[in-house]
Amino acid sequence: MTAPVDVRPRLLMVMPYRQFVRKAQDEGFWVGAIWDPRLESPEYLDDVRALADVFVTADFRDEALLRRTIREAAKEHRASVIYHIGREETMAAAYEVAEELRIEVNPAEAVRFLTDKHAMRDLLAERGLSPVSFEAVATRGGVPDAVRRIGRPAVVKPTALAGSRGVFLWQEETDLAVWTALVEQYDYDGPFLVEEYLRGPEYSVETLSRDGEHRIVGITEKLLGAPPLFVEAGHVHPAPLPPERRQAVEDLTTELLTACGYRFGPAHTEVIWTEAGPRIVESQARLGGDRIPRLIQLATGLDIEQAIFASLAGTPAGPAEATATAVVRFFAFPPGHVDEIRGLEKAAGLDYVDELSLKLHPGDTVTEVRDSKSRHGHVIVSGASPGEARRRCAEVLAALEVVIDGTPVRADHAGALGAAV
Ligand SMILES: Nc1ncnc2c1ncn2[C@@H]1O[C@H](COP(=O)(O)OP(=O)(O)OP(=O)(O)O)[C@@H](O)[C@H]1O
Ligand SMILES: [Mg+2]
Repeated sequence: MTAPVDVRPRLLMVMPYRQFVRKAQDEGFWVGAIWDPRLESPEYLDDVRALADVFVTADFRDEALLRRTIREAAKEHRASVIYHIGREETMAAAYEVAEELRIEVNPAEAVRFLTDKHAMRDLLAERGLSPVSFEAVATRGGVPDAVRRIGRPAVVKPTALAGSRGVFLWQEETDLAVWTALVEQYDYDGPFLVEEYLRGPEYSVETLSRDGEHRIVGITEKLLGAPPLFVEAGHVHPAPLPPERRQAVEDLTTELLTACGYRFGPAHTEVIWTEAGPRIVESQARLGGDRIPRLIQLATGLDIEQAIFASLAGTPAGPAEATATAVVRFFAFPPGHVDEIRGLEKAAGLDYVDELSLKLHPGDTVTEVRDSKSRHGHVIVSGASPGEARRRCAEVLAALEVVIDGTPVRADHAGALGAAV
């Protein structure tokens, strides 16, 4: 007897998270997965390996090897699409190979604009969209002069890092020492972008594009920690925004994506509402991190991850209307030794708590939060109204306490990530 022929469309993905493999298969795809074992734990990758129809590994730091691996896997397994919605560092390479084999869903150039903050600023300037003063600087030594030219306060960011790593608000002449110590921690020498400091509330816009049309899924408000770093303290979905502002934020986002030539899939665009109107911070050709897809699901019922693969399979999801508010807050405790943790079980048991994760345990040494990755955990709650969601979140933060060097510290203490929800 011959085996039945597998007629599923063949989706070859670079670093697909576990749930992406499952959700793509649910939409009828054969899924091949290419991963760098350095990027996730062996247990996590065992799960991906078990789920995927084919699993291949490569060291993504070696770009030529990564390209060769994608190319060979695509040919061997007759991939109909190469797709990458993982971390941005390797996206351009994946899209270039896809383009070479003519199985891309986006022009590689569109993805290059989105993954390269400098290229994006140049494109926006050329199109007269979202004017922001900026200067690109090749190495560390050129940054102080660029800050002087842009004018303080200025935002200095490593062009090639993500996750808020090394993004710094340069306020005083004397900030040079603090900033130098920060970039040294990341062993990063350049390139950098120095930008004018955009003041105002910050939002992120989730979109799903199809055939170059960009559908707005929702807008999330970002809660920031204390300067000079820009570590996210939390997010609220949907963002409380008056309708005219909402429209302006949506319009700017779709103009950016169109200017880049983006055609298919999710984008996560960060926008600050300044006195002069909305300004783009950055945009990435993937979903938002920080559990934003979960907030959207709680608030609207839409599984945005599933919607990507449904759309790829030819059935785009309908509009997502928010009927509740969902909030995520991240924990940031002061450095020291953890003696005891109080209130965790009780908080986790509250019926409106959707997720609660604390990365600290008795006996651990707490290290200071300096970027998204080093935060100490998070809680997600939802409520029927924005007020209810905020109250519930405040209740959890007040209930959770970590005793550090003999001193009880509540999760809502006025620490590195601020106190207000
Ligand atoms: N020009 C600016 N003016 C004001 N704030 C800024 C500016 N640029 C960046 N920020 C702040 O710093 C945060 C991180 O910057 P950006 O998004 O460019 O870097 P990132 O490392 O990709 O961050 P993440 O991965 O956390 O989104 C922004 O979300 C915003 O809060
Ligand atoms: Mg960002």
